[in-house]
Amino acid sequence: MPLPFIVSLIFDGLPSWMPDPWRIAKVGGTLGALAITKRYMSGAETLAERDMHGRVVIITGGTSGIGAVTAFEMAKRGAQVVLLTRQSPSDPYISDFIGDMRERAGNDLIYAEQVDLSSLHSIRKFATRWIDNAPPRRLDMIILCAATMTPPGGTRTENEEGIESAWMVNYLANFHLLGILSPAIRAQPFDRDVRIILATCSSYIGSPPLDAPLDKKDWSPRKAYARSKLALMVFGQAYQKHLDSYKRPDQLPMNARIFMVDPGFARTPGMRLWLSRGSIWGLLVYIVMYAFAWLFLKNESMAAQSVLHAVLDESLIRGEGGKLIKECMVVDCARKDVKDEDVAKKLWESSDSLIEHIEKEQAVVRAKAKKDQGKRDLEAKKEQEKRDQEAKNAQQVEEIESLLGAIKKGKQKEAQKAKDGRKSKNGGENGTASDTHNSSHCHPVFFTEKLRRLPPSFGTASAQQANPVAHGYAYQDAQRSNGGKGARL
Ligand SMILES: NC(=O)c1ccc[n+]([C@@H]2O[C@H](COP(=O)([O-])OP(=O)(O)OC[C@H]3O[C@@H](n4cnc5c(N)ncnc54)[C@H](OP(=O)(O)O)[C@@H]3O)[C@@H](O)[C@H]2O)c1
Repeated sequence: MPLPFIVSLIFDGLPSWMPDPWRIAKVGGTLGALAITKRYMSGAETLAERDMHGRVVIITGGTSGIGAVTAFEMAKRGAQVVLLTRQSPSDPYISDFIGDMRERAGNDLIYAEQVDLSSLHSIRKFATRWIDNAPPRRLDMIILCAATMTPPGGTRTENEEGIESAWMVNYLANFHLLGILSPAIRAQPFDRDVRIILATCSSYIGSPPLDAPLDKKDWSPRKAYARSKLALMVFGQAYQKHLDSYKRPDQLPMNARIFMVDPGFARTPGMRLWLSRGSIWGLLVYIVMYAFAWLFLKNESMAAQSVLHAVLDESLIRGEGGKLIKECMVVDCARKDVKDEDVAKKLWESSDSLIEHIEKEQAVVRAKAKKDQGKRDLEAKKEQEKRDQEAKNAQQVEEIESLLGAIKKGKQKEAQKAKDGRKSKNGGENGTASDTHNSSHCHPVFFTEKLRRLPPSFGTASAQQANPVAHGYAYQDAQRSNGGKGARL
């Protein structure tokens, strides 16, 4: 079959249904170029592998994008994963997210701890809880993937403590967390492979220098993000030195290493927010132009490869820490000031004093708020007690009123009965008994037969004391019938 076709091609030329070979070359070349571009832009895939059973991994940013893929891959390999999430573990989204990850990874050891990385207080609460444990908790890895970025055109925002958001979440939160967790890291046994991964970004290359603060008028989302990532890299180098300089009680060298990882540009929720400028119209443009995003940006899984390489590659435990990993390779930093000790010292000191100052300030604010809350609670309690007392009084009044009502009704009934009785009696005696005294007419309720009977020693003081009610009625009736001249029946 192919032979006659080839012969016909040679002798008769191309058949009429066959497109122009130049066109085929153009289309094929374009598809090939697209495939090569896609493959290139997707980046390198790690070949490193390691069993993670029994290892404890703390991850920030594990609910989205690159961090979520990393957390899942850790869980899949058997690690115990502690996600530091902005929301509480009881939040429905977080509990669903963790339930789903547990099911997919076949690992139940995935937990969440609430840590808002935009709050120094929240970080301190978690980290002090973690280190406040004897013996020290096992800790094999800290993967710091959380980050925030204001979309282009967005305005500068600050957290409650007055720190600019990108600086706080991308840099200071990591500084604060690792600062407090330092004793827990240093307390790990010598032979434990402890790694700390800092997710950075190549935007650090274009950052303004760290020695001058970023003025409000010079502020832009790009500069703020790039500067926070540069600070993170400088801090990474300094933290490695801080760990290396620790003299262990057993005189063995420290075995904890920092790795900075640039995952490359990826189609994560954070990137989508940035590209769409956080607007609906931007999102529509993103959807329309999605082919470009698909071609030039990695997917989340490919972006996580360098992070996974830093976590899983056994060879990295040999040699120094403080390395930058990009495309699953150790690369050099593109800026000299990343390794500048003076810059690092200044950054460390200024971050430390900023945290100290703000924590003191916030402690006063919290104490005052607590006191005010205490006062408010006390007032609310008093108010509640007052309301309860009023309600109780009202209830008593109501009860008395209803009792009086019942008494009144009873009286009316008795009066009616007496009236009816008198009528029938008068009818029987033909009206002659109309002058006869009938005390029940005056006191229908209490003037029962028993009360109407006189006490045995009526008229004496002791009898009056013995039965004042009975006596009182008898006395009044007697007064009525003899014009008030004395007791007489
Ligand atoms: N994507 C890229 O193209 C790219 C490129 C270079 C470097 N990177 C770096 O790679 C890392 C991961 O990026 P990504 O794009 O995957 O991130 P992402 O999708 O934007 O996710 C950011 C994560 O950070 C968490 N987070 C933000 N603010 C927080 C706060 N105040 N407290 C606690 N958690 C907070 C978010 O939690 P919520 O889910 O609660 O919001 C989320 O899990 C980042 O460090 C980023 O700078 C990314």
